[in-house]
Amino acid sequence: MELIVAVYDDWGIGKDGTQPVALSADRKFFRQTTKGAMVIVGRRTIEDFPGRQPLPGRVNVVLTRSSGEIPGFTVCSSPEEAAKLAQTAERAVVIGGGSVYRQLLPLCSTAYVTKVHARPASDTFFPNLDQDPEWTMEQVLQSGEEDGICYEMCLYRRKG
Ligand SMILES: NC(=O)c1ccc[n+]([C@@H]2O[C@H](COP(=O)([O-])OP(=O)(O)OC[C@H]3O[C@@H](n4cnc5c(N)ncnc54)[C@H](OP(=O)(O)O)[C@@H]3O)[C@@H](O)[C@H]2O)c1
Repeated sequence: MELIVAVYDDWGIGKDGTQPVALSADRKFFRQTTKGAMVIVGRRTIEDFPGRQPLPGRVNVVLTRSSGEIPGFTVCSSPEEAAKLAQTAERAVVIGGGSVYRQLLPLCSTAYVTKVHARPASDTFFPNLDQDPEWTMEQVLQSGEEDGICYEMCLYRRKG
């Protein structure tokens, strides 16, 4: 499984259910990187999707403890169920939020991390991969500046 996330300088990723700083370059990178893939997402994060609709051109899998259908999404009730479903896809990408990242990170071998060099207040954080001996930053795929904010899209791989 793969994972994609945008982190601030303190590895914060969100506040009050949304991303306090969101760059259009990162949204474009997200669209390109997840196109055609299965995306795995927590129920809280879909509240922040445009119109709460599934992302077009992707197989949308949502994790929730509630029973019942969510139109446009395949519902999973555990990370294990999501991981099993991921095996049926050519590519499966974990797209957040905080709790889903934490639970599925151990099953991921590739992480696309956009470093957004800003430090807005966050209430949700991603584990600092630069301090995790199991991960290495392999390549900077893109970098730039938008509205005075520098960013880099970094490719991390699990070692071994
Ligand atoms: N910077 C980024 O790249 C990025 C990307 C995505 C999201 N975010 C941010 O992350 C924040 C949201 O993260 P979050 O941690 O609050 O919520 P979340 O991970 O998006 O969703 C949490 C929900 O997922 C379901 N869930 C979690 N673990 C489960 C399990 N083991 N079994 C079944 N269902 C499970 C539960 O849904 P139910 O309550 O329905 O049971 C839970 O309430 C927002 O601020 C968002 O903007 C940032």
